[in-house]
Amino acid sequence: MSDAPLIARHGEVSYPVHFGVDALGALVEGVRALATTQRAFVVTDTTVDALYGAPLRQALAGAGLRVGWAAVPAGEGSKSLTVLSSLYDAALSWGVDRGTVVVAFGGGVVGDLSGYMAATLLRGLPLVQVPTTVLSQTDSSVGGKTAINHPLGKNLVGAFYPPAAVFIDTGYLRTLPRRSVAAGLVESVKHAALFDPGLLDLLTDQADALVAGAPVALADVLRRSVALKAVVVERDPLERGERALLNLGHTLGHAVEAAAGYGALEHGEAVAVGLNFALKLSARLVGLPARDVERVAGALRALGVPHDDRPWRTPEVLDRLWFDKKTQADALRFVLLRTLSDAVILRVDRAMIDALCADLNRGNE
Ligand SMILES: NC(=O)c1ccc[n+]([C@@H]2O[C@H](COP(=O)([O-])OP(=O)(O)OC[C@H]3O[C@@H](n4cnc5c(N)ncnc54)[C@H](O)[C@@H]3O)[C@@H](O)[C@H]2O)c1
Ligand SMILES: [Zn+2]
Repeated sequence: MSDAPLIARHGEVSYPVHFGVDALGALVEGVRALATTQRAFVVTDTTVDALYGAPLRQALAGAGLRVGWAAVPAGEGSKSLTVLSSLYDAALSWGVDRGTVVVAFGGGVVGDLSGYMAATLLRGLPLVQVPTTVLSQTDSSVGGKTAINHPLGKNLVGAFYPPAAVFIDTGYLRTLPRRSVAAGLVESVKHAALFDPGLLDLLTDQADALVAGAPVALADVLRRSVALKAVVVERDPLERGERALLNLGHTLGHAVEAAAGYGALEHGEAVAVGLNFALKLSARLVGLPARDVERVAGALRALGVPHDDRPWRTPEVLDRLWFDKKTQADALRFVLLRTLSDAVILRVDRAMIDALCADLNRGNE
């Protein structure tokens, strides 16, 4: 990967985030440099394994590494205690030691799952994130959150565990469905609205190439977007304050995602609806100018991500807002924008949301 890496900081530690296209050699070199006992244990899912497993395996072995390999079933179901336990079994019986690098090779599911495995096995192993979806490249691979799900909710068991390095290779995105590419870019729209309005224009202007999976255009946008997230994580690694701004669009987004039934909508599509709703609340509650609303909506439109919030402003969806694990008492902490790149967190109670929705539903959009 030719350009200098971005350096992300997490408390006392920092780690490089490399960007590139078809840069397998740089990845292998990076893993080799971290593997003090020349061992790497790769966790992937069955889909990514079938598409890209063999060349990575060969290249790691060709670099003199002893390679362990586990491919979990593709999909959210693998973020479970059962699958985690099978990974511990596989790694321990293979001969994992303290110098083994865990390579998370796949989307956010593999990243969260193997990140948590790396955080806990032998009290912590060096972790290299190799995200292969837009969502994981723009969001989950950087920031150090790892987790599995619990029957009572998503991501309830986990740890903050920063990786030792991240390799973002947009060459992998060529095989990702366009719908997932577009949806993943909604997190970049979010980062742009929060911190870098100029990136909104880039996303809008380049939307066709980006959604078509053009690797160089994607690498440029993702680098800029990840840099924005990295700054916030650096200032607030454990999400005690400012990092919560990254929840923009996610309050209603999570409710929409759940109401649609998990898997029916891409996460980014639900966030796009939530973002659109947050823009309307922002306009009414903290004075977000109409031209700013339009700039964000214009990016979502250009990317072709459905984001109309009207069908989702139903009692069923709104009820779900008040049963989220982050709900505090009778008020929600909504991330709103005063202007682009000037976000605030506002406590909004149920009566306010209901009144606003009633007004919007009367046609006063
Ligand atoms: N840790 C964090 O900060 C954080 C942030 C956001 C989301 N997440 C988590 O990320 C997960 C979602 O991530 P995701 O959207 O990447 O889902 P995913 O990992 O399930 O990947 C989606 C699908 O794409 C397939 N795939 C992966 N790479 C591919 C490629 N290059 N070509 C073709 N197909 C490919 C996968 O096999 C899977 O079927 C959720 O569990 C969510 O909780 C974590
Ligand atoms: Zn998200």
